[in-house]
Amino acid sequence: MFNLILFGPPGSGKGTQSEKLISRYGLKHLSTGDLLRHEITRNTPLGQEAKSFMDKGSLVPDEVVISMIGSALDENQDAKGFLFDGFPRTSTQAEALDKLLELKKTPIAVMLALDVSEDELLKRLLIRGETSGRSDDTNEQVIRARIKEYHDKTLVVADYYRKFRKVVMVNGEGSVDNIFQRLCIEIDSRR
Ligand code: AP5
Ligand code: MG
Repeated sequence: MFNLILFGPPGSGKGTQSEKLISRYGLKHLSTGDLLRHEITRNTPLGQEAKSFMDKGSLVPDEVVISMIGSALDENQDAKGFLFDGFPRTSTQAEALDKLLELKKTPIAVMLALDVSEDELLKRLLIRGETSGRSDDTNEQVIRARIKEYHDKTLVVADYYRKFRKVVMVNGEGSVDNIFQRLCIEIDSRR
């Protein structure tokens, strides 16, 4: 198994690159943002709870996303490996993920962290907001709140994996294909 975390601030390209990476390496894509939006579309109680946080650009409570990831891991016992996108996003989530993976005896191989300037993030998300229908892309204030959550609560997750020498910074600016090549070089050197 090969488990990888694609890390980075909102708009850094995690979703875009995940699609390409899962197709090249046959990994199971686990995006907590996508899972939560799916719950919102189905109007489940979990979705209703999550929506109130997501609309403001705040993180959803840890226990909600941890239990969602636990179920997703159980439902994909045959996966060749997992690509975690947008998870873990707090140190509590990182510790919980380690425990879940310990049970499966399959650790995180590497955290690839996309490095993108704040101006570029804002530009990308405002452009997407014109067409995406994502409530958290529609105004600059909410986008800035998401970036603030990243600085306040999520950046420490990289420190957590740095202790285990698992973090690799990757330049996340330039063309989608060039960034994909940079990510593949890092993965290929570790498989
Ligand atoms: P989530 O869905 O994870 O969103 P995010 O991390 O805020 O960021 P995005 O998904 O918008 O960006 P991305 O890095 O995937 O970039 P993308 O490829 O889309 O989370 C949403 C919310 O859910 C959170 O705010 C929180 O409330 C909740 N949540 C989710 N996970 C949680 C967790 N673990 N704990 C608690 N709460 C959680 O690209 C962005 C745009 O840029 C696209 O339009 C794309 O086409 C464009 N683009 C991509 N690459 C390039 C490039 N190289 N050049 C130019 N444009 C590009
Ligand atoms: Mg995404």
